[in-house]
Amino acid sequence: MKNLDRRSFVKFMGGAFAVAPGIFGLISCQRSEASFGISPTNLDNLVLADGLDYKLLLKWGDDLGNGESFGFNNDYTALVPLENGSSLMWVNHEYADPLFVSGYRRGGPRTLKQVDKEMYALGGSIVEIKQDKSGDWKQVENSKYNRRLTAKTKIPLAAPRKIAGKDFGVGTFGNCAGGVTPWGTILTCEENYDAFVGELHHDGRKESSRLGWENFSKDHHPHHYGWVVEVNPRTGESKKLTSIGRYAHECCTVTRSKDGTVVAYSGDDRANEFIYKFVSSKKDSLEVGELFVADIINGKWLSLDINKNKILKSTFKDQLEIQIHCRKAARLIGATPCDRPEDIEIHPTSGEVFVALTNNYNRKDLKNSKNNFFGKVLKISPENGDHLSMNFSSSDAVIGGEESGIACPDNLAFDKLGNLWVTNDISGSLMNKPPYEKFKNNGLYYIPLSGKNAGKTFQVASAPNDAELTGVTFSEDYKTLFLSVQHPGEKSKSMDKLTSNWPDGGNSIPRPSVVQIRGELLDKLMKG
Ligand code: FEO
Ligand code: CA
Ligand code: CA
Repeated sequence: MKNLDRRSFVKFMGGAFAVAPGIFGLISCQRSEASFGISPTNLDNLVLADGLDYKLLLKWGDDLGNGESFGFNNDYTALVPLENGSSLMWVNHEYADPLFVSGYRRGGPRTLKQVDKEMYALGGSIVEIKQDKSGDWKQVENSKYNRRLTAKTKIPLAAPRKIAGKDFGVGTFGNCAGGVTPWGTILTCEENYDAFVGELHHDGRKESSRLGWENFSKDHHPHHYGWVVEVNPRTGESKKLTSIGRYAHECCTVTRSKDGTVVAYSGDDRANEFIYKFVSSKKDSLEVGELFVADIINGKWLSLDINKNKILKSTFKDQLEIQIHCRKAARLIGATPCDRPEDIEIHPTSGEVFVALTNNYNRKDLKNSKNNFFGKVLKISPENGDHLSMNFSSSDAVIGGEESGIACPDNLAFDKLGNLWVTNDISGSLMNKPPYEKFKNNGLYYIPLSGKNAGKTFQVASAPNDAELTGVTFSEDYKTLFLSVQHPGEKSKSMDKLTSNWPDGGNSIPRPSVVQIRGELLDKLMKG
């Protein structure tokens, strides 16, 4: 795409872009191959491709009954069907924008009441939903299942000993993406915990948090966060899995190896951090097993078992201490720093592991010191397709940039045909500005991995101002796509200078919401 600027290229292709030509071996610019898609836009709306419509399902503040309400900044979503024909929807609530939730402004006075409001807005929601006769999904009112986990819910630590004197953590927050286990529980991942409660490093160094919760709560010890939390959506029972390590977990994606062993993949979404694999040693459980970290350069999984490595043995007092200070341990044994691992999904037929590496503006400790503005999707192919193998090869599945039409890939989902759906996350402060101006608002993109359009990108949705689209989940029949619209209007400087009024329009304050998308285009794409 040397002589066309991106706008005219979009017009020429009718919304389709070629992806990673080296991977798919084709770049074709024939008009006949382009059939749908939208061009990038900065309209303050959830703009969808022709043949798709959306309706709100849940928005911040919605009454969930049982004295609870839907939290802020909905992120990961998951669906667990029930025997009675309805489904339980799990939704992560990652962080609270103080302007809308508590009224706190940085540099201004801070009150316990504000902190309490922010703590309630975080964690997760469990909501029973059901389709009505017209096919619309709606919350089941007064459902006994509806409940909240917040930053104050007491959650046991699944660990061999106490951590900081406790066998539980108070609450969960920074809940970004997650996973569903084969036994029907939800994994919700604690990502940027240090923004709320700071950090306590292995050498004793303390870091204070951006949001200053530690000045109001002595209950929130940093070592109680940064874990994967397993939740039973039927009961709300939950536990923090220390086995998978403590770091800025974007997600946790579970599969089974050929012999049925449970294997989980997770990434640490911080610049120059790592990709991990956990191999369970207990049936239908993630509580015990062995943790590995990826050496991508040599295509090897490195064990973090204290008894298998002299450096680990001499640095840490026990296995749990390695898990608490996972980053340090992984770096010590030669793991490969990455450009911010975000979501991980496993291809439904090939078993290959797709990892979004969103960007890296801080490559200073890498040999290649260039910033990576656009990111990519990395494909990890386990040796012989075996998730238990200690060897793998890797290649680029999608390269971010103008040619692919995607910048900063973040959440991934595979549909039933094995085609890839990607959301992106250009940060609010850089959106519609160089070098990202041509991508406009964040979006949802569809990338067929097979068929005549294999390797092309089609933008199917564009987010309201400042927002990020996350939490792509398909209904069991693939006729509904659920999507989180997170942080619309987050760059608003004050209540009278709102940058978004989505979804209610007019002068209303923006409200993060989960939407349901249906329509003939989705039906057509699911037929192949
Ligand atoms: Fe919460 Fe890495 O996105
Ligand atoms: Ca994310
Ligand atoms: Ca992100």
